[in-house]
Amino acid sequence: MEQLAVRPGSTNTASCLSGSRQTASDALAGQAKPSGEPTVGQPMREDQSAPAAVRLKAALEQRELECPDYWSHTGAGRRELGHGLFAYPAMMVPQLQGALLDDLMGVEDDVTSVFDPFMGSGTVLLEARYRGLSFTGADINPLAVLIATVKSRNYDVDALESVGRSVIKAASNAKSTSAAVDFPGINKWFREDVIIDLSRIRRAITQAQSRDDRQALWVILAETVRLVSNSRTSTVKLHAYPTEYTRDRVIDAQFTYQDVFERNIKQLRRQNELLRGLAGSQDVKARCLVRDARASANIIAGRKADVLMTSPPYGDNKTTVSYGQHSYLPLQWIEATDIPGFDPSLLSTTYAIDNEALGGSLSGALHYADSLAERSNAIAQCLAQLQERTRNARQRFLAFFHDLDASLDPITSNLKPRGWMFWTLGERKISGLHIPTVQIVRELLESRGAQHIVTLERKIPKNKKRMALRNGTVETISRESVLVMQSSPRGEQTETPS
Ligand SMILES: C[S@@+](CC[C@H](N)C(=O)[O-])C[C@H]1O[C@@H](n2cnc3c(N)ncnc32)[C@H](O)[C@@H]1O
Repeated sequence: MEQLAVRPGSTNTASCLSGSRQTASDALAGQAKPSGEPTVGQPMREDQSAPAAVRLKAALEQRELECPDYWSHTGAGRRELGHGLFAYPAMMVPQLQGALLDDLMGVEDDVTSVFDPFMGSGTVLLEARYRGLSFTGADINPLAVLIATVKSRNYDVDALESVGRSVIKAASNAKSTSAAVDFPGINKWFREDVIIDLSRIRRAITQAQSRDDRQALWVILAETVRLVSNSRTSTVKLHAYPTEYTRDRVIDAQFTYQDVFERNIKQLRRQNELLRGLAGSQDVKARCLVRDARASANIIAGRKADVLMTSPPYGDNKTTVSYGQHSYLPLQWIEATDIPGFDPSLLSTTYAIDNEALGGSLSGALHYADSLAERSNAIAQCLAQLQERTRNARQRFLAFFHDLDASLDPITSNLKPRGWMFWTLGERKISGLHIPTVQIVRELLESRGAQHIVTLERKIPKNKKRMALRNGTVETISRESVLVMQSSPRGEQTETPS
């Protein structure tokens, strides 16, 4: 297996990274690493006999020593290759996840598989693929799973392009003016001409023979829906433009579809070129499932994953990032049977997916206080401070951490003993109180026998992550951390109260 060395390509960090290794995108652009330069992330020679966790910590800290803003890398610039297929909310910075994998692979030879239970649109999946690592991922949101599934494939891009061009032609020749789908609010969210165009495209896609091809074409339709609906693209919540604006807006759904199609085909072709150059990467297995993380126990049968690399939501979707609302309109246009595991009842309301996600139900939340506080001092302290806030604030806090806690045993059951864990975590405020999510997750994992290795901090530039609209009681914080831990030596879980 050839290891792809990666370095962030941001402008703000470029000067101190000029001696570092190259990114996947650099590799494509033919910018090979100058020979003889120091290799960032390699363990120092005198540390070779130290345990892998110590060497990993040194390698990760070394990056920061060489470049103080290293982990704050903005991911500036366009998302390249498969990473650019769809604008999913709050996506990870690919280069950073790749750098973490590189540093781990620099200190541990036997790393072959990665698990992401909050996979989103599959950023970790692609970074694993680019390194020849097999991947299993899951997400509760069927749209996320569809996007990731497409990223997991080795498409014959010429064949896909030809099918896609037939779809575009069939849609443009179609005469039907009837709507192919119907759902409450369709006329609020789409102009009539847009409904007709999207219907023509939808019907044409359903005629494509292969489900794999249809899935890639649905992702293009999903991105088209995001761009042509009457919901603002500036927020991930459903929020309609003023009527006068949508009425007069110059928008053509078929043109937009073709534009996204050309872009995605180009990115998939470039990705294939990259993967062809990486020995073994064509055969790498990747599996994506619609699954609640709380029900993810042992979804990896046989050899467990070496690495857990993931980014759970910052808090309940409704008041942080509403992934479900963001996916509601695209999912209405996609044939549900083309996303295995997609239960269409998730579209019964605009907030049904968000209700199913972590922290989505407040019912019974106040009863979880004692069992959570017993295992996390940080939770106990927050609860003491939240006593002065509203009941709703306490419920939101407890519902989210109860659900996150309930997912930890199922998630870690898919990881080998002493498996490596990389948790990218964002923090938020509830009723003005800063919630120390990083410390809480650390304590909940330590209560299960996991060991802390290091916590990396990164600042998120303003407006970089597409957040839900702020409201008076809840805010997200412009900082993110990567919590690096190792799971319990025997893979056993300390019994936790339910
Ligand atoms: C921060 S995002 C992950 C983004 C992803 N790393 C990417 O780059 O696209 C968190 C994800 O957790 C998912 N999620 C929320 N609750 C979940 C649950 N109970 N089980 C599985 N996934 C869940 C959301 O749908 C969302 O896709």
